[in-house]
Amino acid sequence: MSTNEEIANRGLDVLVGNYAPQPVALVRGEGSWLFDAEGDKFLDLMGGIATATLGHANPKLQAALADQASKVWHVSNLYTTEPQIQLAERITANSFAEAVYFCNSGAEANEAALKLARRHHHDRGDDRHEIIAFEGAFHGRTLFTVTTTGTPAYWEGFGPMVPGVHHAKFGDLDSVRALLSEKTAAIFVEPIQGEGGVRTAPAGFLQGLRDLADENGCLLMFDEVQVGMGRTGTLFAHEQEGVTPDVMTLAKALGGGIPIGAMATTRELSKALVPGTHASTFGGNPLACAVACAVFDELEGGVLDHAKAMGERLGDGLAEIASAAGHDKVLEPRGRGLLRGLAMKEAPGAIIDACRERNVLVISAGGNVLRLAPPLTITAEELDHGLRILREVVLESA
Ligand SMILES: Cc1ncc(COP(=O)(O)O)c(C=O)c1O
Repeated sequence: MSTNEEIANRGLDVLVGNYAPQPVALVRGEGSWLFDAEGDKFLDLMGGIATATLGHANPKLQAALADQASKVWHVSNLYTTEPQIQLAERITANSFAEAVYFCNSGAEANEAALKLARRHHHDRGDDRHEIIAFEGAFHGRTLFTVTTTGTPAYWEGFGPMVPGVHHAKFGDLDSVRALLSEKTAAIFVEPIQGEGGVRTAPAGFLQGLRDLADENGCLLMFDEVQVGMGRTGTLFAHEQEGVTPDVMTLAKALGGGIPIGAMATTRELSKALVPGTHASTFGGNPLACAVACAVFDELEGGVLDHAKAMGERLGDGLAEIASAAGHDKVLEPRGRGLLRGLAMKEAPGAIIDACRERNVLVISAGGNVLRLAPPLTITAEELDHGLRILREVVLESA
């Protein structure tokens, strides 16, 4: 049997070094738990970065995958397959959206949204091509999406970036107003910035963006790749603000761990993408769509309500840790539902390592934020166990 280190070392020989994986080779999962190559067991409080939302090896998702795997895997979008229609029906039945485009990742979903915005205005004869995104935003790593990503370090060496992208200050409507013009195609925003540090917009910000977009005549597009599908306590995060976007993107939790992305919009706006304008070979793949339909079944079958309760429990637990640790260590607890963070005084690398050494997996966000995004199916006992370990580690930290 190979050790974690042996497997990791083989990776160093053959993988591009764009990741710096932690030294645990995960070979199996069950619910909220992951097992490494040496048989050690870890409580997963990061859910594959807010993706494995129904736990690992979920029997319902396995059954959906196996059932579809015995039928047909891939035929391309040159033909009709029913799982993608069923999934689009689920998304449209549960949101403002009337039409869905499928792809394979968050970046692709956002790329489709950005292209749709430009093409929509182009078709109307308007020269509206500019995108207003936000400092601290994360939208993906394709050239267009990384340009909208509001962290200049991610642009380094990849220029020239896509022209026409501006960054306003997250939470600051005046900074958006200053960038809006008759060239603006869309305002593009995460309802809660995930990678940027689990930053929730101030109350009224999303409504303010809606009003500004309507006055200006540009689109309002929400990136729900990290916060969508129950992560923050409602199916989509923007529901909590009562604000409806023109376009919404999904990925991560949509497939519960199988690669899939979606760009959802109104019927009217969808008309910009006629045959030949945009496409994806794997988009709407029957395996991925069948699993994503099972994700909807599970959320509707009680997981969403459970996640809401667990989100409050996690929020209370983190608030208690923050107050016990004091301002010297923890600046503030952040987040909503089961997407939470502790903004730390120092970068949380040592805390992440110490948690892992005590068999609890957590991750970082936005430099100094310790981020938690456990499976939505996590039990109260598991959550309390994770919080107990995290509390010890934070209080013992230097
Ligand atoms: C809000 C948001 N948008 C887009 C992406 C990019 O998704 P992907 O890595 O699937 O391309 C991410 C990934 O973390 C994200 O958090």
